[in-house]
Amino acid sequence: MAVTGNKQFKRAARIILVGAPGVGKGTQAERLMKRFPQLSAVSSGDLLRNAVRNRTDLGLEAESHMKHGSLVPDDMILKLILSELKAKSWIPPTSSVSDPSPALPSDSPSASFILDGFPRTSLQAARLDSLVPVNLVVSLVTPVNIILGRIADRWVHAPSGRVYNTGFNKPRIEGKDDQTGEPLTKREDDNEQTWRARLQKFNDTSNPLLEHYDRKGILWTVQGNSSDEISPKLFGEFEKRFC
Ligand code: AP5
Ligand code: MG
Repeated sequence: MAVTGNKQFKRAARIILVGAPGVGKGTQAERLMKRFPQLSAVSSGDLLRNAVRNRTDLGLEAESHMKHGSLVPDDMILKLILSELKAKSWIPPTSSVSDPSPALPSDSPSASFILDGFPRTSLQAARLDSLVPVNLVVSLVTPVNIILGRIADRWVHAPSGRVYNTGFNKPRIEGKDDQTGEPLTKREDDNEQTWRARLQKFNDTSNPLLEHYDRKGILWTVQGNSSDEISPKLFGEFEKRFC
């Protein structure tokens, strides 16, 4: 589907994508960045997978949690996200979780961002609230049987996190990343058993998380059987709120 465009925001969009594993958070973040060039995105899963690939201390500790489909400890993910938000200048460099900086982030449209996969627990959400005021939380909903069918067909370019699907958005050359030509691989947690554990974890943690944002009046839910059905609804809502 055509997603390129040059829609301009009038104010900063600070957005969180929430949804079951494989619902299409990464796919929608990619499309939103094409449609709204001021947006950039951070995926907590991609940050963790990079840490695992680079064999950092944090990566080594995260690996077994991820392999088993459970969440990594809150402190670990908070540390990782905080340093990423600072590196991207989305929060002031002096901010810390225990001592959030009182300075508000810029409301300039160029300070717009999407967080894909973070926060995932209400504790993470409360910590994020103290660092940066999010202004839209999108809950993506697709039936579980449809999602399961996609996981087996997902391939990734590990260094960039680019996602392909042999039944939906094939790479131009089989098994190769479109931009670098490097080989595509499977994610270690992309098997049915681990996916079911991830789904169970999502079911256990997402209600309190969504209620947290619903109470703040910033939760918006979008449903669809496919990403192609969901994307136009997302684009419309973003234009209404931020353009
Ligand atoms: P993370 O990487 O965030 O994984 P996830 O939430 O399980 O989500 P996925 O990345 O699997 O799916 P997605 O929704 O991005 O879907 P995608 O667009 O790829 O987290 C991994 C692990 O890290 C967690 O289990 C946890 O251990 C840890 N972690 C991460 N964040 C954490 C946090 N905050 N706290 C604690 N731990 C944390 O789409 C899926 C597939 O479907 C793709 O192949 C895509 O091409 C395809 N697809 C999309 N749309 C369609 C369509 N319309 N038709 C057919 N196929 C489609
Ligand atoms: Mg993803």
